[in-house]
Parts: sequence; C-alpha cells; structure tokens
Amino acid sequence: MPSGGPRAFVRGNPIPGWEFGGVDRPVRVVGHYFPQMESPTRRLFLSRALQGAALVVLSPLVRRAHAAPPAMTVYKDPNCGCCAQWVTHVRKAGFTVTVQDTADMDSVKASFGVPAPLQSCHTARVGRYSIEGHVPADLIQRLLKEAPEARGLAVPGMPVGSPGMEMGARKDRYDVLLFDKAGRTTVFATR
Ligand code: CU
Ligand code: CU
Repeated sequence: MPSGGPRAFVRGNPIPGWEFGGVDRPVRVVGHYFPQMESPTRRLFLSRALQGAALVVLSPLVRRAHAAPPAMTVYKDPNCGCCAQWVTHVRKAGFTVTVQDTADMDSVKASFGVPAPLQSCHTARVGRYSIEGHVPADLIQRLLKEAPEARGLAVPGMPVGSPGMEMGARKDRYDVLLFDKAGRTTVFATR
C-alpha cells in the first residue's frame, strides 16, 4: 500500500483554511436554493470572514518569522580573548548580546548552577537557560526552539576548533552537553 494519503494532504493544504476554493463552492450551490445568500452584502461578509480566518491562521507564523533575535547576557573575564571571539560568533548568528565583564566567574557559575565538571571560560544566559563555554550558536537556537526541561548547554573545557577557539585548521571533536539542575548530562550534539 502506498502511504501517499497523509502526505498528499499536507502537500495540498500546507495551511488549514488557506484553500478558499473548497469553501467558496458550497456557498454558491446553497445560493441556488436560497437566493438571498447570493446578496452582495452576504458575499462581502463571507469574504471578510475568510480574510479574517486566514489572518488568524497565519499570524503565529508571521510572528515567529519577525521575532526579535533572542537576548543573551554573556558573563566573562575582561581579559578572556576566546570569550570575546565567542561573543562575535553568537552576534553573527543573530543574538542580541549584552556583555558583563567580571573577575569573579566562580560566583557567576555557582549562581547559574553550572556543575564544576562542565565548566569552561564564559557563562551566558538566554531565556531560562545557562550556556557554558564555546557552544555553537546554531545549537543554542535549537535549544530555544525545542525548549527541553533542562538547565542549559555546556561545552566543558575549551576544545580547539569550537566557535571562538579556532586555531588554524585544527579541529578537535567535542560533545555539546545538555545538563539539568541535578548536573545530569546527555549529549545534545557532537561536533
Ligand atoms: Cu574560551
Ligand atoms: Cu570564553
């Protein structure tokens, strides 16, 4: 059995209610039996109603497309070069970044619940999540989109070749870890 049914529906109707033809035709048929239904006022009302319905259906998509870039605060030591490079990386990806320079990163990591084994140089906050170290920006976007129950993402240490840690052509393999408030981790991605 070919499984074309549901897929064909999705292709034909990407947005429910967007196909006006199917709604328009029964109205005209009804009009033959109830001539008052064909009155210009009635038709205007129907077309307005359909436009309204289309707007209601489309507005969440429009809102998402025009959403402001997520605001992020990055806490870093003022003398950390790779931290500044990472800030450049996330800004390029569209994040609006506020930098907070501090010499006391230990307190920052403690207050945002970053477990010791996961620590790196800088710590960022975006939404309700903590972002520890050289996490690639696309994975932060994925985190915000999937919105898992977690404390945040971490790239422990400072792997060479991660964003902000570029050293020529060298690129070490590293895991990007999703961690929860108990310090449990799962591999969110491997780069
Ligand atoms: Cu670093
Ligand atoms: Cu850093």
